Amino acid sequence: MQLDLSGRHALVCGASQGIGRASAIELAELGASVTLLARSADALKIVAENLPRKHAAQRHDWRSVDMLDTASLQAIASGIAASEPVHILINNSGGPPGGPAHAATPAAFETAFRQHLLAGQTLLQALLPGMRASGYGRIVNVISTSVKEPIVGLGVSNTVRAAVAGWAKTLSGELAADGITVNNVLPGYTRTGRLDGLLAAKAAASSQTEDAIAQDLIATIPARRFGEASEVAAVIAFLCTPAAAYVNGVSIAVDGGRTRALS
Ligand SMILES: NC(=O)c1ccc[n+]([C@@H]2O[C@H](COP(=O)([O-])OP(=O)(O)OC[C@H]3O[C@@H](n4cnc5c(N)ncnc54)[C@H](OP(=O)(O)O)[C@@H]3O)[C@@H](O)[C@H]2O)c1
Repeated sequence: MQLDLSGRHALVCGASQGIGRASAIELAELGASVTLLARSADALKIVAENLPRKHAAQRHDWRSVDMLDTASLQAIASGIAASEPVHILINNSGGPPGGPAHAATPAAFETAFRQHLLAGQTLLQALLPGMRASGYGRIVNVISTSVKEPIVGLGVSNTVRAAVAGWAKTLSGELAADGITVNNVLPGYTRTGRLDGLLAAKAAASSQTEDAIAQDLIATIPARRFGEASEVAAVIAFLCTPAAAYVNGVSIAVDGGRTRALS
């Protein structure tokens, strides 16, 4: 199986922690040079310094930007692509705040669309010429199992994730002939800062402890445990390899079997 990413350059968004950071580590393990992107410069610097280097030509770098700032994101992505074509894009950032859809303000939807859909489109347009020129492109969007089963209490997220899934499926058909695949990875409950925040918020809004809430959630997962960021990252990294060239336009849940939908 061809898993070697030597000579490939990956841009990993939301890479200062969690699933993004774990994905950067996996891609570097497979030989890719990795550019990390998120807001926290200090955290990015540490992640970049500690990424694996499997061969001398492998170089890692980072850029700090808020993905809500479309103009800055466009400028940074164009600069990265101009210095070295990007073959792999991991579209990932923080999830939108919770709450029912009917109570969300139009501004909350606008913010989420900017951070997730417009950021993805901005990055795509900056990186696509390089992917086309090299005949190799892998775009992986980290979204949510809500594209298979909307999650109660995540109204804005359910809506914007579905939009990203529709965007990705459309792109997968448009770009396949150029050697570019577009897929989505859907994490289940995964041990990251995001999950810690979710447990703390639920505990604050109820009389239960964080541990009791965690146990209730774990009871809904056939694997009877939370996932690790590295387990989600392994699937993301596989989708970026030559071996995954014929996997295109799909949404893969990495959730310990929690999603009940058939497809
Ligand atoms: N963990 C789970 O259980 C779970 C389950 C389902 C779906 N997901 C989804 O998977 C994705 C990743 O989750 P995670 O658990 O790894 O999240 P996380 O630990 O909160 O990490 C989010 C990453 O995105 C970056 N980020 C957030 N807002 C940003 C912005 N405006 N501009 C640039 N970077 C930004 C953060 O870095 P900075 O703060 O430095 O910018 C961080 O590196 C999210 O969309 C999440 O909703 C997670």
